[in-house]
Amino acid sequence: MYKILEKREIAMRNTWYKIHAPHVAKKVEPGQFVIVRAFKNGERIPLTPVMWNPQEGWVVLIVFTRGRTTMRMAFELREGDEILNIAGPLGNPAPMEKFGKILAIGAYTGIVEVFPIAKAWQELGNDVTTLNVTFEPMVVLKDELEKVVGRHMVEPVPIDPNLDFPANMKNVTKRLTEKVREMLEKEDFDLVFMVGPTGDQKAVFEVVKEFGLPMSVDLHPIMVDGTGMCGACRVTVGGEIKFACVDGPEFDAYQVNWDELIARSGYYTDLEMRAMQEYMK
Ligand code: FES
Repeated sequence: MYKILEKREIAMRNTWYKIHAPHVAKKVEPGQFVIVRAFKNGERIPLTPVMWNPQEGWVVLIVFTRGRTTMRMAFELREGDEILNIAGPLGNPAPMEKFGKILAIGAYTGIVEVFPIAKAWQELGNDVTTLNVTFEPMVVLKDELEKVVGRHMVEPVPIDPNLDFPANMKNVTKRLTEKVREMLEKEDFDLVFMVGPTGDQKAVFEVVKEFGLPMSVDLHPIMVDGTGMCGACRVTVGGEIKFACVDGPEFDAYQVNWDELIARSGYYTDLEMRAMQEYMK
């Protein structure tokens, strides 16, 4: 069992959990993830350790409330409660190399996953700029990133109450692509890295491609077991079938079959929404 040592809401729909998980804290490397099963008979959700301490045996997970399980976690779990199980660390660590000048982008809570990688790249001697584009009340890790990377930029997008959610999300995509274009026009980067919704990753990739820069992405297809057995996280990369959980999660953006991935990612959106609404009744 994994005791919750700290729990607090750090931004709209974003909850910080500091959890006692010594086996994860001892082994995890930037870029890896864990699969959390919070409740008996509950679903398994992939989450990324943001910070960890191997001596004290804890990890921090920042969980975005987007479905029934994450909502149950936010509403039902308290400090001192225990999480049923945490499997991992899983997936491959991010490549730790001297790339030079890096632009690491987190759309929405993608910045949570960018954090440990960007920090490690900066410590290795890279010059890392992080960029977080998200809705204004959802900004997280601003102070923390300012301390660990060369430069951290936040582009908060106000939520327009007159627009529906998809229209508001389009505003984020617009700001994201405009900002990336503006930065690439002004500065020379050696690598662009991005974590965020698949549609936004593709939109940013289209901009980066125009500048001919290398780009890598952490992909988030639907995952179940996280160990290469179920096939749920299948993606086509370089014309070959890969499993994001064991072959990734990081891939070369130029090799990803984006249209297939976007189509597959939408399979369960309605079900997820319905499950969340059922829970709220
Ligand atoms: Fe099952 Fe990757 S999550 S194969």
